[in-house]
Amino acid sequence: MGWIVPPPRRPRKSREELLRERMEKVNWLIEQGFLRSRKIIEGMMKVPREDFVPEMYRDYAYLEVPLPLPGRDATISCPHSYPMFYEALELRDGDRFLEVGAGSGYGAALAREIVGSKGLVVTIEIDKETYEFARRNLEVLGYHDVLLLHGDGSLGYPPKAPYDKICITAACPKIPSPLIHQLRCGGRLVAPVGPPGSVQDLTMLEKKQDGTVEARVIEEVLYVPLRGRYGWFET
Ligand SMILES: C[S@@+](CC[C@H](N)C(=O)[O-])C[C@H]1O[C@@H](n2cnc3c(N)ncnc32)[C@H](O)[C@@H]1O
Repeated sequence: MGWIVPPPRRPRKSREELLRERMEKVNWLIEQGFLRSRKIIEGMMKVPREDFVPEMYRDYAYLEVPLPLPGRDATISCPHSYPMFYEALELRDGDRFLEVGAGSGYGAALAREIVGSKGLVVTIEIDKETYEFARRNLEVLGYHDVLLLHGDGSLGYPPKAPYDKICITAACPKIPSPLIHQLRCGGRLVAPVGPPGSVQDLTMLEKKQDGTVEARVIEEVLYVPLRGRYGWFET
């Protein structure tokens, strides 16, 4: 399993073409069973993924491939992975949501549309260059109420805990314990678990009301490695 990324090129597609591709992609995701909930469907229709993709890859925004971002190892994940994560999390209106691995900022913007003004989106990026890319994208598109932080997301962000839903968008050796602590009882966490460079288990962890956790594998995926204190590499 691997990805074939198309070669970079100057963008040629018009806004209208990209909008049409977005609508077609949403319909395809519904047909394929990745996308079911009204709020997630509306979010995917609204957020212009092409504006979170570096210019030289913009025309490929709706291909089912992860695309490179500025920074080390950073990618915007392929389109189907967002509903795959958010449907598994049952991300809803009003949720307090933490994302580890902001990348382009697309996942955070989409989450913002889903959780609405009563919810909260915190997203953390470890790579400075990638963080700056996400910051610019979120700013340009007006997502001023997404709390974007530069740092090691494997430690979570205690000041805004507990979170109803957490997603880790990089492959981890095991689910970082600080994130389990910062998950509300009754909450859900989704993360790829496994070594870099080979297939990983997309794992859904539920924290029960009594604080015990149950985890199950929902899919096989291929993600870039988690860095930091609870990642594969410290830096
Ligand atoms: C697949 S990309 C994320 C895609 C992103 N969700 C988006 O919508 O574009 C994974 C990201 O996780 C970041 N990352 C890796 N380890 C991290 C850590 N410990 N804390 C925060 N970010 C981390 C990488 O730098 C990379 O940008």
